Amino acid sequence: MATVSLNDVRKQYGQTKVIHGVNCEIADGEFIVILGPSGCGKSTLLRMIAGLEMISGGTISIGGQVMNEVEPTHRDIAMVFQNYALYPHMNIFENMAYGLKIQQIPKAEIESRVKQAAEILELSHLLKRKPRQLSGGQRQRVAMGRCIVRQPKVFLFDEPLSNLDAKLRGQMRIELKNLHKTFGITSIYVTHDQVEAMTLGDRMIVMDGGYASQIGSPIEVYRKPATKFVAGFIGAPPMNFLDVQLDSEGSHALLPGKEALSLETPLADYAGKAVTLGIRPEHIHVHEESDEAQHLNVDYVETLGADTLIHGHFGEDQTKLTIRLQDIHFLETGQRIPISIPSNRIHLFDPQTELRIGD
Ligand SMILES: Nc1ncnc2c1ncn2[C@@H]1O[C@H](COP(=O)(O)OP(=O)(O)O)[C@@H](O)[C@H]1O
Ligand SMILES: [Mg+2]
Repeated sequence: MATVSLNDVRKQYGQTKVIHGVNCEIADGEFIVILGPSGCGKSTLLRMIAGLEMISGGTISIGGQVMNEVEPTHRDIAMVFQNYALYPHMNIFENMAYGLKIQQIPKAEIESRVKQAAEILELSHLLKRKPRQLSGGQRQRVAMGRCIVRQPKVFLFDEPLSNLDAKLRGQMRIELKNLHKTFGITSIYVTHDQVEAMTLGDRMIVMDGGYASQIGSPIEVYRKPATKFVAGFIGAPPMNFLDVQLDSEGSHALLPGKEALSLETPLADYAGKAVTLGIRPEHIHVHEESDEAQHLNVDYVETLGADTLIHGHFGEDQTKLTIRLQDIHFLETGQRIPISIPSNRIHLFDPQTELRIGD
């Protein structure tokens, strides 16, 4: 087991900069997720940690040792990819044992390591089968077993579950979490799936165009997104964003419905200025009809069973808004429902820098 330090890590291909200086101290035994949309540089960052890509700037250390010039095979890491190529002509035992054989580890030791891993992964009864005789989920477990038997200092995962169907992904998430609990090996896990990031990570690094926009625990990132990008990326359906004006004291936000929302902490710097207000669909209140209520005009409704998503618009400029309610609600297009935006649930962002403002 080991710590991993990323110190101003940069990457460019020719003139094209793709990673712009990432800093992160990953603790011994931590499970950290690198989350972001396709093309934001997740795999590049992971491959630099693995030693499969040269580093253009900064340093990467594993267990306190700078790794910039160290060959992948000497970094004591194991990597699981999306396309976990197993050797088709070898049975499961041989697939899991192969890496150890090459390292010339004694036969008895190989047997014992493979058997132990197989037991934990519930593969013991499949050791004599060929990969083609296994399901997708079982094959993925073999790919992990192959890494576990090597007893590396660090596990690297690049979207390992994205080829599996939704149900299996859910199961594998739980298995991965349990494996991590059992072995406690420092793990760095790349995904574009926010659910994986929220459920697997002790912390996550949210990447946006080669920058680490925010590093924090899933709850921190959900509760206090550092940028508008992070706010919109975490949460489903995504956060609503409204263009609002603050009053001349910076103590109220003027909503499209002309309602003035009192801010928990006044923002003198933004008095009289435009800001971006974020509110999650699950945090908007629907309440009894009253004179003060804002009204949402329902455009369409998605009934998910456990939840209902209501998409509509409100205010003079017909600002779009999505609300998420628990349970099933029967609503018609054109219906008006009274809503309010609770001030303790809003997020404010600077419209130019898109950075979080205030608390
Ligand atoms: N060998 C390469 N040469 C030039 N550009 C590359 C190369 N590999 C990746 N890129 C670019 O770097 C960016 C990040 O890629 P990648 O790390 O694969 O993203 P992600 O894994 O987040 O989808 C992309 O814009 C991609 O086009
Ligand atoms: Mg990738």
